[in-house]
Amino acid sequence: MKVLITGGAGYIGSHVVKLLGQLNSDIDILVVDNLSTGHKEAVLYGKLIKADLEYTGIIEKIIKDFKPDVVIHFAASIEVAESVQNPVKYYKNNTANTINLLEIIKKYKVNKFIFSSTAAVYGNPKEVPIKETASLSPINPYGQSKAFVEEVLRDLSKSDKDFKYVSLRYFNVAGADPEGKIGQSYKNATHLITRALKTAKGEYEKLYIFGTDYPTKDGTCIRDYIHVVDLAQAHLDALSYLLEGGESDIFNCGYGYGYSVKEVVDTVKKITRIDFPVEETDRRPGDPAVLVADNTKIKDVLDWKPNYDDLEFIVKTAWNWEQNRRF
Ligand code: UFG
Repeated sequence: MKVLITGGAGYIGSHVVKLLGQLNSDIDILVVDNLSTGHKEAVLYGKLIKADLEYTGIIEKIIKDFKPDVVIHFAASIEVAESVQNPVKYYKNNTANTINLLEIIKKYKVNKFIFSSTAAVYGNPKEVPIKETASLSPINPYGQSKAFVEEVLRDLSKSDKDFKYVSLRYFNVAGADPEGKIGQSYKNATHLITRALKTAKGEYEKLYIFGTDYPTKDGTCIRDYIHVVDLAQAHLDALSYLLEGGESDIFNCGYGYGYSVKEVVDTVKKITRIDFPVEETDRRPGDPAVLVADNTKIKDVLDWKPNYDDLEFIVKTAWNWEQNRRF
């Protein structure tokens, strides 16, 4: 079987490559990544081609030559705050580039597609935990850029009965490979756990808590933090599902409960044993108060079984990576 993985040198993609590579040597893995935020050292299995989805001629040649059975599409821009500042970047990288990719996939009759979607498609949900059937009303360009693609995928699968996709709506992905070989590695990481760990390390003077007046128990935002390896496993489960003839579908990826920003900060201090400075400040634009997954569907349909459902373990693996990282 041939699997093409866009963005496979990035944080989540590289964990999927590792799981797939460990699983079976009969799987031919080709990673396509522009290495803008990914790292070639993160690709532990398969082959890597440095290419940008913007250049459709090159992408078309890669797909024509490789003839993948499945495409797993991670390549995207992923920061909510940046998307508010620079929406065009998000609509281009996440929406336009994906539509171009789908056009090529259709031309070469690649009929299985796994898409990295996000909990940000829900906006401020009316009910929590959030079910996949909840209405989509993103409150930031990042979420909107992914919601557009979900609509395209829905219409494409209706128009072409052979085309099947799974869209995985990620909640807050964190943690690192428990073996310590790969982990999150961005230049200016903005995600809470990484930022807190870097502050503990002394890379930043203090950690800002963005908003303490949300309608939550302690006034800070609540998120459903999922270990990156459990999320990677969800992709393997989605792959098996599609290979077994599963219908196109959408699944939340989260544990079903959340932690507040303050609880995460306390956990990071506990694990690192470093009492780094924290300052409460204004809300960050585009942040919903609470995002927690209802994960009943992914457990029932994909038989997804999380193994690392533990905030302390998430922080421990991320801390281990932060202290010993190779890239
Ligand atoms: N936060 C802080 N200080 C920081 C960083 C973050 O207080 O230095 C807060 C944020 O305001 C937010 C929470 O911590 O309330 C989590 O923020 P992150 O930046 O870690 O993550 P987001 O919830 O903004 O977004 C992440 C992914 C998205 C995904 C979303 C789904 O980046 O791709 O989770 O829940 F859509």
